[in-house]
Amino acid sequence: MIDTHTHLNEPRFVEDLFVVRDRARDAGIERLIVVGYTLATSREALRVAKQTGDGAAVGIHPHDAAEATPEALETIRDLASSPPVVAIGETGLDFHYDHSPRETQIDRFRAHIRLAKACGLPLIMHCREAYEELYTVLVEEDAREAGGVVHCFWGTAEDARLIVDLGFYLGVGGGVTFPKSEELRQTLLTVPRNRILLETDCPYMAPLPYRGKRNEPAYLPYVAERLAQLYDAPVEKVVEETKENAFRCFPRLQRL
Ligand code: NI
Repeated sequence: MIDTHTHLNEPRFVEDLFVVRDRARDAGIERLIVVGYTLATSREALRVAKQTGDGAAVGIHPHDAAEATPEALETIRDLASSPPVVAIGETGLDFHYDHSPRETQIDRFRAHIRLAKACGLPLIMHCREAYEELYTVLVEEDAREAGGVVHCFWGTAEDARLIVDLGFYLGVGGGVTFPKSEELRQTLLTVPRNRILLETDCPYMAPLPYRGKRNEPAYLPYVAERLAQLYDAPVEKVVEETKENAFRCFPRLQRL
C-alpha cells in the first residue's frame, strides 16, 4: 500500500518517527509521501523523507498563502530538485477557513501550478468549499500537464467528474469510514477506480476505529478495507489498484 498523504514532518511524530514508520511497514505500507505546507515544514518533509527512504512534497498551503512570496517559491523550487521530492504541494484553495484572502490563495495556487509544470512534478492539492474555483484555475493554468491529486476529496459527483476528466486523481482517507459519510461514499462509486489514491493525512482524519486519535500510516488498511467493502471487491484488489494509481500519479515514487 502507498500512503500518498502524511504529515510525518509534524511535531507530533518527532518522538517516535521510526517506531511509526516501522509500524507502517508491518501494516503493509511500502512507501509514503511526507507533505510540507510551509517553507519550514517543506524542509522538514525533505529531511524526514531522506531518513525514512520515502517521498516528499514541498509547497505552501492555502492557509499560509501570504507566505508563498516569489522568494519563498524560489526556495521551494530549489528544494524540489532534491531526489526524494515527488510532488509540489500542498497547495490549493480553502474557502471554508479563509485563513488567507481568497485572491491571495488563487494567486499563489497559480504560482504553484506554474512551478509544478516547470519542475515536471505533479501537484498535491487541498480543496475545501472551493471546487468550482479550483477547477477554473486548473483549466486556466493548463494544469493537466502537471497532473496530481486533490487530496482528501470531499466534493460532489460533478466535482469529481470534472477533476478526473482533467486527468487528476482523488485522495481517499479516514473520512470514508465515518458513519455520516454516506454521500461521499456514493460519490466515490461514480469515480473510475483507476483514479483513486489512498491516504491517511496523518496525524489528522484517523479512520474508524481510531477516530479522534492521532492518525498514522499503519491505519491505512482501515481505509482500504472500507473502500473494498464499498466496491464489493477483495481488499487485495483495492490495494493493488491504488498502488498502481499512486505510481502512475507520482512516477518518481517508484524510483526511490
Ligand atoms: Ni495535508
